[in-house]
Amino acid sequence: GPELAAVVAGASIDVPDFPKPGVVFKDLMPLFADGAVFRQVIDAIVTHHGAGSFDVVAGVEARGFVVAAAIAYATGTGVVPIRKAGKLPRKALSASYALEYGEATLEVHADAFVAGQRVLVVDDVLATGGTAAAAIDLVERAGGTVVGFSVLMELSFLDGRERLAPRPVHTLLTV
Ligand code: PRP
Ligand code: HPA
Repeated sequence: GPELAAVVAGASIDVPDFPKPGVVFKDLMPLFADGAVFRQVIDAIVTHHGAGSFDVVAGVEARGFVVAAAIAYATGTGVVPIRKAGKLPRKALSASYALEYGEATLEVHADAFVAGQRVLVVDDVLATGGTAAAAIDLVERAGGTVVGFSVLMELSFLDGRERLAPRPVHTLLTV
């Protein structure tokens, strides 16, 4: 609700012209560093989806790992890291995508999921949605069933939600 949105807003910092001129970067490191706030946002995501509604949490490198690991630990589930290209040691699936400020490729191990395993996909920020679309595509190609997608913050002017439609996006703060 609005209280949680205020908490997320209050624990993040706007950084003008990072990583490129014209981009106002939302820095969530202060939120991760504040134990009470971090617990509050993780608990809110778990409550939204319901503990027991997912079997594993997939997080996108790098900041998504922080969110995914906390949700997994809180719910007794596991983490599947979705990594930037070239980091995974075994057979992997790849998806390339455009970022607000660049281009990248994500990968996941081909055997990361048992067929039909229920997967909650998480990240820190939804911007253009390119990262999320690639991550969701990878999970599904690897045999997982995406049952939810959450971020701490959505940058609505970049239309990521429209890009992911009709899949629902759960966010704690929309800016
Ligand atoms: C950021 C953020 C999301 C993504 C959102 O990650 O953590 O993963 O960009 O952008 P999009 O919706 O336009 O795709 P980044 O690629 O900067 O990587 P990092 O977490 O390793 O810093
Ligand atoms: N902050 C954090 N991550 C991001 C942003 C941002 O402003 N834009 C795209 N990914």
